[in-house]
Amino acid sequence: YDFDLLVVGSANADLVIGVERRPAAGETVLGGDLAVHPGGKGANQAVAAARLGARTALLARVGDDANGRLLLDSQRASGVDTSGVLVGGAPTGVALITVDPSGDNSIVVSPGANARLTPEDARAAGTLIASAKVVSAQLEIPLETVAETVRMLAPDARFVLNPSPPMPLPAELLAACDPLVVNEHEARVVLGEAAGGTPEDWARGLLALGPRSVVITLGAEGALTADGSGAYDHVPSPRVDAVDTTGAGDAFTAALAWRLGLGEKLAEAAAFAVRVGAAAVTRAGAQESYPTAEELTAR
Ligand code: RIB
Ligand code: NA
Repeated sequence: YDFDLLVVGSANADLVIGVERRPAAGETVLGGDLAVHPGGKGANQAVAAARLGARTALLARVGDDANGRLLLDSQRASGVDTSGVLVGGAPTGVALITVDPSGDNSIVVSPGANARLTPEDARAAGTLIASAKVVSAQLEIPLETVAETVRMLAPDARFVLNPSPPMPLPAELLAACDPLVVNEHEARVVLGEAAGGTPEDWARGLLALGPRSVVITLGAEGALTADGSGAYDHVPSPRVDAVDTTGAGDAFTAALAWRLGLGEKLAEAAAFAVRVGAAAVTRAGAQESYPTAEELTAR
């Protein structure tokens, strides 16, 4: 394989404003200075993996504009192969993000060029897709593009999906996931229930939908892994002071996907990934907050 990890997904310019609290409907609040960060769940994952040392490529679409160049610069500076990043067709995706004093965020995404990453684009990138040991996707690009990608994986390749933003998923796609990675909110939407119960209950319910394995991320509580053989492991997270949780889940998923490709067991890979996610929440922004392998060791 030429690549340890290919990420197929979105690239957004994140327009971030710190607020004391989020406005209610019809309300105006004053926030801090605007910060513009390279983001998007796909681009975030690619940077996270590359910084850790994975040979990483990104299949994505950005606009022919300043935000697109910001995204490409960030990928290249982190060592991501950008030969699969298509340019043009619509403005680069934008995420409007408010971050509150506890580090929690609310996000509105304008997909822009991400919505124009088509199944034809995936087919045209067939060689790239087939050259990756692990392929990771999210849902800020069209679902059909993700489904087409899955049909083009190398025979022994592994597929990891974070269905974010969440929606009910077709059986063919679910069956390919190893693992399906969800937070509580995503678990509920994919399950299609006003699900009560425990994370174990969600994992059991999700496994019944067909994925080969499931990981539920639990924020400061770490993650729950269910490897399909009936083993459930709770992986605790190191305690950290949260500054900005934006993109921490993307860093977790990328780290997990990479380590699975190296042959680690699910719980073992998740134990590494929670450390990466925890490091990411201690700094502002998404991509800029991701640790290198050296920083992670030093922590
Ligand atoms: O997961 C975090 C990301 O979600 C942000 O970078 C933003 O772009 C949105 O896509
Ligand atoms: Na961060």
